[in-house]
Amino acid sequence: MTHIEDLQAAYLSAVKNAKTLPELEEIRLNALGKQGEISLLMKTLGKMEPRERQEKGVLFNSVRTQIATAIEERKVKLAATEMAEKLKAESLDVSLSARGELKGSIHPLSQAQYELTEIFSSMGFHVVEGPHIEDDFHNFSALNIPPEHPAREEQDTFYLPKGEKGEILLLRTQTSPVQIRTMQNKQPPIRIVAPGRVYRSDYDQTHTPTFHQIEGLFIDRNIHMGHLKRCVVDFCRAFFEIPDLELRFRPSFFPFTEPSAEVDIACVRRDGELILGEKGDWLEVLGCGMVHPKVLDNCGIDSAEYQGFAFGLGIERMAMLKYGIPDLRSFYDTDNRWLRHYGFSAFEALMGGAK
Ligand code: DAH
Repeated sequence: MTHIEDLQAAYLSAVKNAKTLPELEEIRLNALGKQGEISLLMKTLGKMEPRERQEKGVLFNSVRTQIATAIEERKVKLAATEMAEKLKAESLDVSLSARGELKGSIHPLSQAQYELTEIFSSMGFHVVEGPHIEDDFHNFSALNIPPEHPAREEQDTFYLPKGEKGEILLLRTQTSPVQIRTMQNKQPPIRIVAPGRVYRSDYDQTHTPTFHQIEGLFIDRNIHMGHLKRCVVDFCRAFFEIPDLELRFRPSFFPFTEPSAEVDIACVRRDGELILGEKGDWLEVLGCGMVHPKVLDNCGIDSAEYQGFAFGLGIERMAMLKYGIPDLRSFYDTDNRWLRHYGFSAFEALMGGAK
């Protein structure tokens, strides 16, 4: 056998027996690398006589191609084997039991807010939001609460440093300023609810410095108290899920509505337990009334042409009544055990709510 045929046989057998990709790469370098044995032989062609070169050239080229092809084929095989072994080594034991994970839940306040806005949406109200830092005009004056009005003191306002134009700034004490902002930007018909956080400097079993309200506003032509009553009655029956729930409209006073009313729902207290919907006692749930003409005029809406109603309710209060939560402060205690007890699963949050 000639030298080239020896090399051919040796390399083809080495390739066949290579067990790993790095080993195969070493063989490739030894044969076909720059200083590889086959490459060096190829270089000798240049020094040969033309006849011999022609003859050997064909042979050498064929040997080089055979070895290169064998290496490529072996490489594909080894790569496949390595991958199969890797997969085998990394396979998961699905029979192992899973490690327990903490499950999150929906806070009752969020749940109540979803349910409230869902009911109002289904009645045709749009959901809007307003800023938490308000000025005196939107939170008080435009709502017909003049500077000397006792409602300003009643609401225990958190005041902030004055604004750039010297305006009085504060944390909104109610969601009612969203009524003003909506009417300033849009002519009737208006049908909005504005849920959100409000702030008052107060803390005891029934008050926390932050709490949540939802404000409603309905303005159009020919709107009267009957529309307000229908809306509030339907809403309360849907929210408490008591179709024949009795309600009472009690005359009241708010500077921004005339006439104004507070709404009570029927309930009884038996063995220290509150039962909603049974007749005997009354429980206040919200404030409402016909929007005061001055408020409409303050926002550039012609009170001779348009009128409407507004209402405001506390979300914590609604959640406490519906879910039987006794202490308002517990909403903000961030106690996980409490949340596990009163919280809602994401599934319930989607399925529950408005019936
Ligand atoms: N803003 C009132 C409050 O915080 C609640 C309220 C009462 C809002 C009557 C209204 C309404 O829109 O008509 O006590």
